[in-house]
Amino acid sequence: MKTVTLSTLSAHKRAGETFSCLTAYDASFARAASDAGIEVLLVGDSLGMVLQGHDSTLPVTLDDICYHTRCAARGKGSSLLMVDLPFMSNSSLPRLLDDAGALMRAGAELIKVEGEAWMAEGIRELTQRGVPVCAHLGLTPQSVHQLGGYKVQGRDDERAEQILHDAKVLQDAGASVILLECVPASLGRAVRDALDVPVIGIGAGPDVDGQILVMHDVLGITHGRTPRFVKNFMTEAEDIQDAFRRYHDAVKTRCFPAEEHSF
Ligand code: KIV
Ligand code: NA
Repeated sequence: MKTVTLSTLSAHKRAGETFSCLTAYDASFARAASDAGIEVLLVGDSLGMVLQGHDSTLPVTLDDICYHTRCAARGKGSSLLMVDLPFMSNSSLPRLLDDAGALMRAGAELIKVEGEAWMAEGIRELTQRGVPVCAHLGLTPQSVHQLGGYKVQGRDDERAEQILHDAKVLQDAGASVILLECVPASLGRAVRDALDVPVIGIGAGPDVDGQILVMHDVLGITHGRTPRFVKNFMTEAEDIQDAFRRYHDAVKTRCFPAEEHSF
């Protein structure tokens, strides 16, 4: 695979092609995913749940994410390495800049931040300093207690309008990518069509520019209830590498997500 950059993702969007993304938290799995052709790897703060066993992402620290970023960076191959900013790293502008700086020094190539239109200033400050940003909207797991659980967002018109509006504001502030989590497929399509930058979806239906899943869900080792939008690619696979390849192929050929995985 040719080295994946933000330009690669934009080119995919312009060409009407999808791209695949997957979480990775260490060198071995990053290597396997990259070798399978996965374009974007995410060191997600989901590591708090799938690696550390917490029931939310809130306990994850900057040091935790830096450690896993250094590990994943050594195996990322030609994939683009996106990294999550942990809970409360956006508590002030200086902290946002310092924490993003630490993640970039650890090997991040794109920083993902949760937050709505109010994050515009922070995103502008980061991009001015050469830190590209992916803005995560819809179901933002760091706000789980405020949202009242892991629930689909934007089912009603008012909230859907707000998410679409926030996506535009954050694109205008400099966000290079938008990620939408758990929104109706119709909203995923509307955001994709309204924006120039690539839109990555998880539980956002088939009509977005890229798809992402948590690695553990792809491998079928999710603990507890599996969300509607995940698919276990291990059932028909020969090995882990093959499961990653099947996921990648299913995204590229638009076989995944199907209607049954969408809201
Ligand atoms: O932390 C994570 O894995 C994420 C994805 C679910 C998008 O933010
Ligand atoms: Na996350």
